[in-house]
Amino acid sequence: MAMALSSVQATLFSGASLLRRSDTLRSFTLCIPFSSMASSVSTDNLSRKKWRRPVVSVLDVGGVKISREDVVRDDPTNNVPDTIFSKLGLQLHRRDQHPLGILKNAIYEYFDSNYSNKFNKFDDLCPIVSVKENFDDVLVPEDHVSRSYNDTYYIDPQTVLRCHTSAHQAGLLRSGYTHFLVTGDVYRRDSIDSTHYPVFHQMEGFRVFVPDEWEPSGMDATSYAAADLKKCLEGLARHLFGAVEMRWVDTYFPFTNPSFELEIYFNEEWLEVLGCGVTEQEILKRNGHPNNVAWAFGLGLERLAMVLFDIPDIRLFWSSDERFTSQFSKGQLGVKFKPFSKYPPCYKDMSFWINESFTENNLCEVVRSVAGDLVEEVKLIDNFTNKKGMTSHCYRIAYRSMERSLTDDEINDLQWKVRELAESKLKVTLR
Ligand code: DAH
Repeated sequence: MAMALSSVQATLFSGASLLRRSDTLRSFTLCIPFSSMASSVSTDNLSRKKWRRPVVSVLDVGGVKISREDVVRDDPTNNVPDTIFSKLGLQLHRRDQHPLGILKNAIYEYFDSNYSNKFNKFDDLCPIVSVKENFDDVLVPEDHVSRSYNDTYYIDPQTVLRCHTSAHQAGLLRSGYTHFLVTGDVYRRDSIDSTHYPVFHQMEGFRVFVPDEWEPSGMDATSYAAADLKKCLEGLARHLFGAVEMRWVDTYFPFTNPSFELEIYFNEEWLEVLGCGVTEQEILKRNGHPNNVAWAFGLGLERLAMVLFDIPDIRLFWSSDERFTSQFSKGQLGVKFKPFSKYPPCYKDMSFWINESFTENNLCEVVRSVAGDLVEEVKLIDNFTNKKGMTSHCYRIAYRSMERSLTDDEINDLQWKVRELAESKLKVTLR
């Protein structure tokens, strides 16, 4: 496969991306401070208002009612667009016939059979979490780039759409769980290409050990947990990929020490498949396990599924086109996707003078708000600063539908709207 999979939704918290930019169960209700509002807004009420986009307006996620007003607000402390709200509650990972659901089930199978059903599984935890859960509880530093409005979707200054499933570690530990898997949709503001999408899916794994487990080995607790972690994840990679070559790479995460990434050799390249490590003692101490040690991992389901099923573009996961959906069935891991047809891309360039607040993520949000899943890539192709110190960027936007041919008129129309919105929202000066 030609695509550069090594960049698929790279982990935001590892050392390299640091430089780059980037239930609680029933207590869901706690994660939505405004849940009481939901009951006052009925779907009927919303659909009568013509100006609203036809998105489902009251969702039920894990028993919590979420209305559009709970998530999207015309307020500078809110940066959640309707395109993102429309993804809440879709829960692709809970569909047994969807590649993400098939993969999730295959991972469950590995844990169930190797650990005699000891791992508790959660796949319906509310993606609306507090800043505390998403960042503070997993020791993400105050000044870490992932906390910025440019990288994370904020509902208000204290509430975000989770940007990783690690947001649930502390809560589950406090609820008494010691072996768990958490699967869910996660949200990140990002650039646009065939391997990045602002909503994707992760699975978090967590295992706590008591002294009786490591003491007989004669090893220190951390080395014992690290060795067990590696053995577990190597087994998982073999369960999913068969006999593959693997390697461990040391890295950094705020929540683990030591921290590792697992890479597998696939289609002639090393592919990072997950981040993991031995949990920082502080997390265990704060959440009721001062005398224990634990390991944790987080893996991106799209990245693995793109490789296992040969899916060439991340937007396909969201397609309801039967030519996509009918190719997958429950329990069938790794059936190779046959592209139904490749429609031609259409490229449009756009040059403008940027200002100090310009970011590529903001531009991508504008393009998505106009073109939705018809945009395949937004790429900076020229960048210069003139004598007066003004900086110009030229972006090439690739439009392509996964499902049909686009007409010239349609694309020109989209491009004009993008230009207008870039001017009015981002305050750039078109050239
Ligand atoms: N939360 C990390 C990310 O999204 C992934 C991760 C890495 C999760 C290491 C873990 C872990 O639990 O131990 O980038």
